[in-house]
Amino acid sequence: MPEEDRGLAIKKPDGDRVFDRLLVALREVVGESARDPSGGGSKIALLHSLLEQPLEPKSIEAAQTPLVGQWRRRLDESTRDCEGDPLDRCLVEALIEASPGLRWIAPYGIGDGADELFLGYTSTQLIGPDIEMRNYQAPFRHPGGLAIWFSLQAPHTLYPRHRHKAPEIYRVLSGTAKWQQGDRLWRIRRPGEWIFHRSHEGHAMQTDMEPLLAMAAWTDHLDAPMSVLDASSKTKMDGQDPMKGGHRR
Ligand SMILES: [Fe+2]
Repeated sequence: MPEEDRGLAIKKPDGDRVFDRLLVALREVVGESARDPSGGGSKIALLHSLLEQPLEPKSIEAAQTPLVGQWRRRLDESTRDCEGDPLDRCLVEALIEASPGLRWIAPYGIGDGADELFLGYTSTQLIGPDIEMRNYQAPFRHPGGLAIWFSLQAPHTLYPRHRHKAPEIYRVLSGTAKWQQGDRLWRIRRPGEWIFHRSHEGHAMQTDMEPLLAMAAWTDHLDAPMSVLDASSKTKMDGQDPMKGGHRR
């Protein structure tokens, strides 16, 4: 079994450079949308302005989860085959390159009613605020109110409906998934799409055949409690219980 699949920390000697490249690639994606009048409007403009502020590098202890090692090759292949925005492809490639030096965690533990999510979801923080946020360690600290994550959700996995005070910005980087917000119907979201969750708006994501790689940003209320999973999240879709879709790895 590769070292990365045993969940061991891996020290990467050129970690700083790959983190810098990842940050540049992220700024390119956000900057392109900020310059597009039909992009994300004020929310993307805010994200863009926060991202342009100077960041303080931090040393972190790298960590991997089994899901990252398992899907890295597939993400790499899907990126090469992707016909989407070249800047998104560059961002995914930079993330793959930086991945061994990042701290990937499974933020939802067994025992909180989220066993399936524990197995099928992992995330890492690239930019963090100057406050503790669970077990995350980000290689960049933001002087104000910005946190940036990358999340990986396995096929046939539900990220249950949840809500939080922080308004949230998502961009789909790889994979097509179903998204649900507020009282709206589930909707297919594809790479290159921005999704905006209002403060306290319930939302959920359901993958089908493909893993979902996404970027998430919080721009306010970073010290408010993180997502709260609720029992009603196991809502049936299309006559089937998505929690029983089964991710077999
Ligand atoms: Fe959320």
